[in-house]
Amino acid sequence: MSDIQSIRTQALERLEHLSTLEDAQTWEADYLGPKGAVKLFQRSLGSLSAEERPAAGRAANDLSRELTEAFAPILERLQAESLTAGMASDSIDVTLPGRTPTVGAAHPINAMIDELIEIFAHMGFQSVFGPEVETGRYNFDLLNIPADHPARDVWDTMIVQAPNAEIIMRTHTSPMQARTMERMEPPVRVIVPGKAYRFEAQDASHEWQFTQLEGLMVDKDVRLSDLKGVLQEMARQLFGPERKVRFRCDFFPFVEPGVDFSVDCAVCDGKGCRVCKYTGWLEMGGAGMVHPNVLRGVGYDPKVYSGFAFGLGIERIIMMKYGVNDIRAFQANDLRFLERFAAAGA
Ligand code: DAH
Repeated sequence: MSDIQSIRTQALERLEHLSTLEDAQTWEADYLGPKGAVKLFQRSLGSLSAEERPAAGRAANDLSRELTEAFAPILERLQAESLTAGMASDSIDVTLPGRTPTVGAAHPINAMIDELIEIFAHMGFQSVFGPEVETGRYNFDLLNIPADHPARDVWDTMIVQAPNAEIIMRTHTSPMQARTMERMEPPVRVIVPGKAYRFEAQDASHEWQFTQLEGLMVDKDVRLSDLKGVLQEMARQLFGPERKVRFRCDFFPFVEPGVDFSVDCAVCDGKGCRVCKYTGWLEMGGAGMVHPNVLRGVGYDPKVYSGFAFGLGIERIIMMKYGVNDIRAFQANDLRFLERFAAAGA
């Protein structure tokens, strides 16, 4: 009996000092578990005399109940405490600044195409898109470049289907001139943004894949001055209201007269600087009045209709506008380059 008294005293004493969930689990195993002191005592009852046994048995049962009842609220409290402690260490500090998610942005070329589509839409031009794998007929023949014409060599062509070179990667967006006119009656006012391909040695200003914007307007009484007005408006929208456009004679088989056109340099206001190589002008592309043979080729009567066409390099415009000095950067996939445009909201 003295045994059970000392178990009780010790158990209650330790119970008061339990401070962690682990302590509580140890205590429970020590006293109430299958190998705990109370169980061991109960197992030892067999060695007592018949007179002593009932009272000792009752005392052991009472103690088991008493300890179980005393332990329950303490265990509950320690469990709750350990739960909140865990939550505190894992919890989110809502006062910390958030992590900015990485948001993608349009590639600078696509952003510039969108900008050009918008500018030309305001002048009544619709955007059309054509195949990048072309036939010699559309890429050359219908553009007044016959098979034996020396100008055909100028477009270093990537041949898709040998041997007769009829299936090629388009070398410019101009084939869409004929494709569009075949499908439409005048008035025609379209732009054609898209990729073009040339078998070329790469350097800071040449890529074998690049992007062009073709323009075509055909109607009655379309003149060179209309071409100049449209390109001037484009230059102003892109580079600011002060910009001027310059035409110089040039040759392209599908226009007559043909010109190359430049915009006066926005960096130095045409005075001459490093960006414009001290000329005051930045060359943007080729243009001209649609050649009568091209009109005839698609069934338009050149005595009734006239038109202008132009073609420019989209990478070049971006390079001028943002001071990029290597065309290879556009396809190099270097995030440091691309992020400059994302930040500029381009
Ligand atoms: N297709 C020509 C090229 O890639 C550019 C060009 C010149 C397009 C004159 C035109 C044009 O529409 O009229 O070099």
